[in-house]
Amino acid sequence: MDAKTGSNIKTATLSVGDQSWSFPVYEGTVGPSVIDISKLYGQTGMFTYDPGFTSTASCESKITYIDGEEGVLLYRGYPIEQLAERGDFLETCYLLLYGDLPNAAQKQDFVKRVTYHTMVHEQMSRFFQGFRRDAHPMAIMTGCVGALSAFYHDSTDISDPHQRMVASIRMIAKMPTLAAMAYKYSVGQPFMYPKNNLDYSSNFLQMCFAVPCEEYKPNPVLARAMDRIFILHADHEQNASTSTVRLAGSSGANPFACIAAGCASLWGPAHGGANEAALKMLAEIGTPDRIPEFIKRAKDPKDPFRLMGFGHRVYKNYDPRAKIMQRTCHEVLQEVGITHDPLLEVAMELERVALNDEYFIEKKLYPNVDYYSGITLKAMGFPTSMFTVLFAVARTVGWIAQWKEMIEDPSQKIGRPRQLYTGATRRDYVPMESRK
Ligand code: SDX
Repeated sequence: MDAKTGSNIKTATLSVGDQSWSFPVYEGTVGPSVIDISKLYGQTGMFTYDPGFTSTASCESKITYIDGEEGVLLYRGYPIEQLAERGDFLETCYLLLYGDLPNAAQKQDFVKRVTYHTMVHEQMSRFFQGFRRDAHPMAIMTGCVGALSAFYHDSTDISDPHQRMVASIRMIAKMPTLAAMAYKYSVGQPFMYPKNNLDYSSNFLQMCFAVPCEEYKPNPVLARAMDRIFILHADHEQNASTSTVRLAGSSGANPFACIAAGCASLWGPAHGGANEAALKMLAEIGTPDRIPEFIKRAKDPKDPFRLMGFGHRVYKNYDPRAKIMQRTCHEVLQEVGITHDPLLEVAMELERVALNDEYFIEKKLYPNVDYYSGITLKAMGFPTSMFTVLFAVARTVGWIAQWKEMIEDPSQKIGRPRQLYTGATRRDYVPMESRK
C-alpha cells in the first residue's frame, strides 16, 4: 500500500494572518502520520524551521520502526528482542536488505556471498602504513572505507541493481576485515586474514585476536555475544549517521563514499562515540560514592557534562537494546571470569540513582544502547578506541539498506534543505583605506 495515494487522505490547514493553505496528511502502517509540506514554499513563500529535525520525517521507509514512548524497536516488523535472542547477524542483514527473513537456501546463499567477499584488495593494507600507530581506529576506518571506492569500480554504478547489491555485500563483508586491520595496526600485530570456515562474528574475533604463531579457537559464548551486539546496532531508523548516508547518496555518490560519510558522523560522542565516552565517564566516576557529584553536574544547565550512554532523541522510555546489552554484559563478564567489575558496579548504581531522580524522570532520560556496551566490549578484550568501530561494523548493513531504499525510491531527489537567514542584508564592498 502506498501511504501517499490512499483514498482517505486527510488534510492539514495552515493559517498565517488571513491566509490559509491545505496540505495532505499521510498515515503510515504504524506510528505518527506526516504532513506533506513539499509544496509549502511554492504555495506560501515560507520554509518550515526544525533544527535537529526533531519533528521532521525526511523520507518514507519500510525498514525500521521505533516507538520511543513504548521502547519498541522493529526491524522489518520483527521485535529486536526476538531477533537478538533467536536470530543471527547475517540473517538480520538479509532481513534488513531484502525485507523478509531468509529461508534455509536463501540464508546459505547469502552467507556464502558475504563469506567470499571478506578479503580486501591486498593493496588496501598499504594505506595503514601511512597512519601513525596511535591513530584513532575511527580515523583509519573513515579513510579506508572511502578508499574502497578506488578499488571496486565494478560496483559503483548505482543505477545498476546488480552493482548495488554487490556493493552492499562487499560493504557488509569487508567492514569487519578493515576494522580488525585497524585494531591490529594499533597494537603492532600482523593482520590476520579472514577464514571462510568461521561464522561472521567468530571470524571477526579471529581477525582481531588471533596471531600467526598459534592456533586460535574463538570462544563460542563471546562470538555469540559479538553477534548479538551486531544485531542490536544494525539499524535505527533515520539517526544522524544514517541521515548522513542518505544525504550523501542523494547526490549520486558511490556507496563506499556514502558509508565513509556515515562513519564520520557516527564517530561523534553524541552518537556512536557515546559508548567510548560512557566507559571513560564510568572510569572518571571510579567509585559509587562519587555518583552524586556527577549526577549534580549532569543536571546543571551551566555544566556541559552529560551522562554518556543516557538519553535519546527518540526513546523516552528504556532503550530495548540497553536491556539486552545489560544481560549480554553479565554473560560476557561471567564467561571471562570477571566476578567483580568496578565499572559495572558504578554503572548499575548510577543507573539506579538516575532512574529515581526527578530530573531524569521528568526529562525521560534512560540508559541507551551505549550505556552497557563499553563494559562488555572492554571485557571481550577490545580497547576503548575500538568501540565505535564495532558500532560502525554493525551499522553498515543499516546504512546500506537505507541507502539502497533511497536509491530505489522513484520519488528520490537530491537532499537540499533551506534556512532561516538572519545575517547581514546587502551592503557594498568597503575599500581597505575606508575601513576602521
Ligand atoms: C545513539 O538517533 C539514534 O537512533 C542514535 C542511536 C542509534 O542507534 O543510531 O540510538 C545511537 O547515538 C544513542 C545516543 C548516544 N548518545 C549519548 O548517550 C550521549 C548522551 N546523550 C545526550 O547527548 C542526548 O541525550 C542525545 C544527544 C542522545 C539526545 O539529545 P536530544 O534528543 O537532542 O535531547 P536534548 O539534548 O534536547 O535533551 C533534552 C533535555 C535537555 O535538557 P533541557 O535543555 O531540556 O533542559 O534532556 C537533557 C538535556 O540537557 N539531557 C541530558 C542528557 N541527555 C539529554 N541531561 C543529562 N545527561 C544526558 N545524557
